[in-house]
Amino acid sequence: MIVFGIETSCDETSAAVVKDGRVLLSNIVASQMEEHALYGGVVPELASRRHVEVLIPVFRQALAEAGCTWADIDAIAVTNRPGLLGALLVGTSAAKALGMALKKPVVPVHHIEAHLYANWLNTMAPPPAPEFGGASVRADFPAVALVVSGGHTDLFHLRGHGDYILLGRTRDDAAGEAFDKCARLMGLGYPGGPAVQKAAEGGNPKAITFPRALLQGSHEFSFSGLKTSVRYALQGENLPSISDIAASFQEAVVDVLSKKTIAAAKELGVERVLLAGGVSANTRLREVMQERCDKAGLTLFYPPVALCTDNAAMIACAGYWHLQNGRTATLDFETRASEPLARVQ
Ligand code: KG4
Ligand code: ZN
Repeated sequence: MIVFGIETSCDETSAAVVKDGRVLLSNIVASQMEEHALYGGVVPELASRRHVEVLIPVFRQALAEAGCTWADIDAIAVTNRPGLLGALLVGTSAAKALGMALKKPVVPVHHIEAHLYANWLNTMAPPPAPEFGGASVRADFPAVALVVSGGHTDLFHLRGHGDYILLGRTRDDAAGEAFDKCARLMGLGYPGGPAVQKAAEGGNPKAITFPRALLQGSHEFSFSGLKTSVRYALQGENLPSISDIAASFQEAVVDVLSKKTIAAAKELGVERVLLAGGVSANTRLREVMQERCDKAGLTLFYPPVALCTDNAAMIACAGYWHLQNGRTATLDFETRASEPLARVQ
């Protein structure tokens, strides 16, 4: 089965062609990052307009790279929630039009669920690409999954396709938001995650012991105190180097994320841990998670870097599994700015 995926929830316009929920035939991502960087963050109206401008060329390129025509496409999967409403509507309107014209099913996909499904993708037809996470097989259930992106820090218990329990989320800033805000404080620019990671190279992660909000006994997170500590560190008299501050900040985030995720896996007795979302591209997070999972006898999965941030391949993959499990929708499905993927049980 060949699924055409569409992603326009934020500042990436992306289209992908994925075979059997696993093999990437193409994955085109047109990023608007540089335009939004001028404003220090995503400008919603600008994002919607850019999606409209580049959507059709991105679609054409995705088909061309996959060596397909519309006739080869069996279904269309599109992000319909959560995200910037105007941006999402560009993608869902296009998907509905395609579905009508091609007479093919259109599957609405939750963006966070799609981030999780990036762990089910393979970068190319066999053999699996060497950068494909800590394991050579694709992810499976049951698992504990940590979704860390610009807007989310969510810990899930994944019991099966479409069967998720939210264990906890952040009480304040998302992990990616903390990276972005602290990068701005340090004068490192936007987006903050990659900038902090780069600045941290060569820095001493033990230079400053930033607070770790472990919130014992709870699966929730909190990063706003850490952000305040970074602000104070930058105001201090004997100012440490920016690379020391960046490395120490990154270490504090990674320490909390990995400890809490592994504790949840142990508590639930599951053997698999999945990482997903933009922050899971972070090299230090992958390293520390791997070390700690190895020690705890857990198998760690994370997507290749290019599939951690927003892309349409993960949307197509999630859509494929919806179809496999008989979950379809009629063309009048809604587009929503917010909706949790799962609730706390
Ligand atoms: O998943 P994503 O592309 O978009 C959302 O759905 O939010 O995540 C974007 C977030 C941004 O906050 C960005 O700073 C962060 O992911 N990020 C990183 C890295 N690459 C992207 N954070 C830490 N280290 C990275 N290497
Ligand atoms: Zn995302």
